[in-house]
Order: sequence, then C-alpha cells, then structure tokens
Amino acid sequence: MAVSKALMSMPRRIQFFAACSRAIALLLALALFIAPCSNADSAAPQTSAVDVHGMVVSESDDAAHAGVEILKQGGNAVDAALATELAVGVTNPAACGIGGGGFMLIYIAKVRHFYALDYRETAPLQSRPDMYIRNGKPDEDLARDGILGVGVPGEIAGIDAALRRFGTMKFQQIAAPAEKLAGDGYVASEHLGKEIETLAPKLKSDPGLSQVFLKPDGSPLKAGDTIVAKNLAATLKGLGNDPVTNFYRGEVAAALVAFMKAHGGLLTAADLANYRPDWRDPIHHRYEGYDVYAMPPPSSGGVVLEMLGALDSGHLAGLGVNSPPYLARLIEVMRQGFIDREQYADPSFVGVEIQKLLTDSHILELRERAMHPKTSPPPPAAAHDHGTTNLLVADKDGNVVALTTTINTVFGAKMSVPELGIILNDEMDDFAVAPGVPNAYHLEGELANQVRPGKRPLSSMTPIIVTKNGKPVMTTGGSGGPTIISGVLQVALNILAFHLDATSAVAEPRIHEQAAPDVVIVEQAMPAATRSALEQMGYKLKVVPNLGAVGAITIAPANLHGAADPRKGGGAVGY
Ligand code: DON
Repeated sequence: MAVSKALMSMPRRIQFFAACSRAIALLLALALFIAPCSNADSAAPQTSAVDVHGMVVSESDDAAHAGVEILKQGGNAVDAALATELAVGVTNPAACGIGGGGFMLIYIAKVRHFYALDYRETAPLQSRPDMYIRNGKPDEDLARDGILGVGVPGEIAGIDAALRRFGTMKFQQIAAPAEKLAGDGYVASEHLGKEIETLAPKLKSDPGLSQVFLKPDGSPLKAGDTIVAKNLAATLKGLGNDPVTNFYRGEVAAALVAFMKAHGGLLTAADLANYRPDWRDPIHHRYEGYDVYAMPPPSSGGVVLEMLGALDSGHLAGLGVNSPPYLARLIEVMRQGFIDREQYADPSFVGVEIQKLLTDSHILELRERAMHPKTSPPPPAAAHDHGTTNLLVADKDGNVVALTTTINTVFGAKMSVPELGIILNDEMDDFAVAPGVPNAYHLEGELANQVRPGKRPLSSMTPIIVTKNGKPVMTTGGSGGPTIISGVLQVALNILAFHLDATSAVAEPRIHEQAAPDVVIVEQAMPAATRSALEQMGYKLKVVPNLGAVGAITIAPANLHGAADPRKGGGAVGY
C-alpha cells in the first residue's frame, strides 16, 4: 500500500508524519513506493516521483526539469508553473505554446485562497456566427487547419498576469529555460516524433513548420532527433520583461497582424491590443468530505464537480476500482454530465447558471437521471487525441498550481508565423460552427457556444485542486479534448474514493462517455472480462489504445507524490 493511501485515510498519521523529520519521511517514501523516485539531476525521464520540497508534473520531462530549476532558484509554485508552461510550449509544440491559451488554478497557502485565471483565446472582432457557413452549409473544416481557425492568443497575457500577481521573478528569469531549449535544441519525445510523422504532409505545406520539424529533404524529424527553434527562442527573448506590451502591441503584434493580412485571416491589431485575461471566481463542490476546486465556464470544471457530486456517498470503494458496477455508474453519470455541459459557454456572453448547476438539488437530479437514463443519442466515433498539455506544481510553502493550456488540435491551425516561430492555434473549432454540428472532438454545437466577436469558446480543459480540512491533498488535470473531463474525474476518484497513490491512479485503465455519440470508449488495457461484463449490461463499447493523458500530485506533509501519465510520457520531477 502506498504512503499516500495511509496518509489520506488516517488523519492522525498525517499529524505524525508532519512531526517527523525530513530524513525519516524521505526514507519512508523511498522504502514504500514501488514507483522509482526521481530528482532534478537524473538523466532518464521518469513519470513518477516522490519528494518533499516541491514537485513538478508535466507532459514534457524537459519542461518539468525547467520548473524544478526555478523552484531551486527560490521561485514559488507560480514562477515554476509559468517556467514549465513556457518550456513545454517549446518541447511539446504540437500541443501548446505562446500562440495558444489556457486556464490556471492557483492556491496561495499564505492566504489560504484559490484563484482562477482564464486566458483562453477569444474570437477576433471581425468574426461572425455564420463565418463557417458556405453555400448554406456549415463547413467545419474551416474552423481548423487554416487561418480562419485562429483565435486571439491568450498565453502570454495569462503568464504575465499570474507572474505579476503571484510570482517572485521577472519574465526573463522564468523564460530562460524555454529560451535555452528552443535555441540550443531539445530531443523530440516519442510522442512528438509520432505527431510530426502523422502530420508531415500538412507540415510540409507551411514554410515555418517544415523549417523546424522536417529535414531539408522533407522527411520528418523523429523521436530522438534534436529540434532547434531559433526563431521562437529569439521571440521569447525579445519579449523582455514586459511581454504583454511586446506581444500584444509591439513587434510581435506587428508581425502577427502582417501574417494575418497576407493569409486572409481576421485577427487585427485591435484584437491583440484589446486582449485581456480574466480573473474569475473558482467554483467549488464537496465530495466525501473533500473540497474540490475547479475553473468556472468556459472551462468544464463544473462538469467534473457535478459528476463528483452525483457520485458522493456512493460507497464506490466497496465496488472496487474499475469493477463493472462502478464503471456502469460512472458511464451514466458521465453521460448526464456531458448533457449538462451543453449549457456551458463564455459567461461574459451567455448566462451559465453555474451555481444552479452545482446546487444539491440539481446534482441529485443528475444522479437520478443517471440512474434512470432515457437519452439515446446518435452513432459512434472515437474521441482520443493528444493535443493540449496539463502541468501541476506544488511547492514547499504549500502553494499549488494546476494549469491546462492548448493550441487545440495537434499543431493547431497547422500554420506558423515563420519569423516568430509561433504556431497558430485553431481554437475557433471549440465554438459551435452551427447548432448540432460536431467539432473535432464530436462535441455537438449549441447556440450558447456560437461564435461572437470577443467571446471565448467552450473548453473541456479542467484542472482541479482538492483540499481536506482546508489543506490541498491532491491536484490533477489532463489533455485530450473531452476525455480530459472523464479522465480528471476517474483519476480524482482513484485517489479520493479508492485511495490509490498518484502513480497507480494515473496508470489505471480508463473509460470515456460523452452522451453523444452513444458509445463508451474503453482503453484496451481494461481487462477483457470487465469489457464483456459492460457489454452484457447493454453498453456499446469502442476499444481504443488509449484515452487522454492525466497527471496528478498527491500532497501530504513532507510527501509529494507526482505522476505524469505514461500514456503520453513526460516527467514528474521533485527536489
Ligand atoms: O479546450 C478544449 O476543450 C480543446 N481545445 C482541448 C483540445 C485538446 O485537449 C486536444 N487534445 N485532444
């Protein structure tokens, strides 16, 4: 049994551990964890680590090390998370970067308070609800893989806002590891190698992308090859210590706007100058004596809270991890949660009654609907993919950051501004192109989520932080479109209900159900007997190699256990 299990279920032992010396805690951790420990100096990437001072979990091992480097220099969790974010934008460029945007959930221990930062992309001012309709028909492809898919990037504005409010360092200090990785080069991970190979035909048609990710003969760079992104390094350096002015109103803005004009894009200088990240009120709900904090809309944090609420007092532990009765309950709750998600949108434009969705009576109604489902939506398609990135940081002072950021689909719009080294997002695809039309993740569009100038598209990204008796005990988040929602839910339950340690919680096979299409997606690692038990219950299954990637950190006094998802690789690095 892992230490975190014992810590989470025995408050007296938590106190005992708190009183123990650091050395004893370390020895215990070393002796009891099956997963290998890592430290910032180890050469081989490790997806699992236990440590006492701080922990960074990222879908890129290089980026996790960048974050730990900043912690070692005296930075706090916010400094480290932002350094990790900039670094992962270099080393996982197909998933995220300064051309994208995200959501950040921050816990500041000194004031025992949560903060939620929305730096999601916005629709350009010239965009219109019918901008993807051609000859009377919605053309979904226009919202991605091209210039009309590009939303106004929020990444730099978000990083700057968080750094100025809670960080202790200047932008250039936290950007230094990213600049080094981009300028000197980094070794392409297995995951990135596969993405480059798959997307090679599309990368070929973009001068900036082919320059960085293809060899001179046009063949794709592979896992293990060194990738150098000199122009991105120069852009990061050029942002100086006033990155917002330089990115949104300075030279970067001028180059972005010129590129847009030359390629028929909508984004203008006014779009960039007007972009603002939003500090929003985090949302919260209880689960079995824990307090779960999440991002409000346009994130899908509320969906995870509703689902957890519906499973509260469900005596899940008695059913067993990934037992067929547990999974059946999960499927029904997910289905109803995703039906409720259709009401979600940018709250600055549409009244999302999030407080109503989180009332006990509504959650009881969801539980009731889940137990007696009546909906039978349309035909199957798969929903697994690995764009986007999540990262988690816990520091020695008890601060925690969980953030998810993206350029949407793999390599975003498949376009880059060559002289800047910036890959453009295709976040407009997260809007409803037209009611009922599914997006890249087979999520059907609703009126609430239609395109409007300045509006943020609905997102599945949902980092969460969980507390018990007012102290953070775990954090999780993931990547993979809608499978983020179901993945975060399952990893949270694996820790909170089944008391698994972070490594096992992340590694357990998962399922995904999103109401439409009417199919339960199951990872092939789910035992065959479990799969056939679900089929006998009447569920239509689609077996996939794997779903999205979810990371986690469990937090106990002098014991941080981090796990990156082996499905995507990356690193859990402590110190
Ligand atoms: O915000 C969203 O929901 C999507 N743009 C996330 C995309 C994603 O996770 C890509 N990976 N599959």
